[in-house]
Amino acid sequence: MRLQRFLARAGVASRRGSEDLMTAGRVTVNGIVTRELGSKVDPAVDEVAVDGRPVRLGAGAAYLMLNKPAGYLTTMRDPQGRPCVAELMPCDRYPGLFPVGRLDLDTTGLLLFTTDGDLGQLLLHPSHHVWKTYEALVDGRMRERELDPLRDGIRLDDGPCQPARCRILGAGDEPATTWVEVSIHEGRKNQVKRMLGAVHHPVLSLHRRSFGPLELGDLELGSWRELTAEEVSSLRNR
Ligand code: URA
Repeated sequence: MRLQRFLARAGVASRRGSEDLMTAGRVTVNGIVTRELGSKVDPAVDEVAVDGRPVRLGAGAAYLMLNKPAGYLTTMRDPQGRPCVAELMPCDRYPGLFPVGRLDLDTTGLLLFTTDGDLGQLLLHPSHHVWKTYEALVDGRMRERELDPLRDGIRLDDGPCQPARCRILGAGDEPATTWVEVSIHEGRKNQVKRMLGAVHHPVLSLHRRSFGPLELGDLELGSWRELTAEEVSSLRNR
């Protein structure tokens, strides 16, 4: 089996991400750094490791959710040493864990992690239409009809957005602020902030409450939990 396929099947990363790990010299086969993309391995006899950690097939993929606090980058390693979500996750227990998609530094809420490279890729693919629901606190008193451009599919500087589902939740605690719920099935950079900014209500805080069939529920900020078997199958069978 090709080494990059082995790594993806073991849930280390996507096929493409596995190739990047190989070319970066982070993968060894029987102790020898293997950068060659065509390299083959025999899972029954060869010892494969990433960053020195052994990788095996069939260990069973892991699926976890984190209630991400503000102030953490959505990355497993930051070369500049800034706080990143990896610090909040049980990475030693689940080698190869990676976040599915990303939340901005100051965004809180549901972030899915898995070691299942294939499912991670599938959920991120635009054709897969995973709906994500956010609660935004915006500047200014906002009225329902001001959300119509978002419902119609607002044009941003990188092109038109797909129609969003949105509604006003109520007034914020601070004067002249409003809570708004926005659901989208795209994942463009700063998308919700840019959509609400485009209708003149800049986002003051942003929280993701759900990701596809997954709901954050009462998971505390900064805490993680494993998905239940039902949640994993609901993700697979969407
Ligand atoms: N939209 C944003 O603007 N930021 C996020 O973190 C997620 C969606």
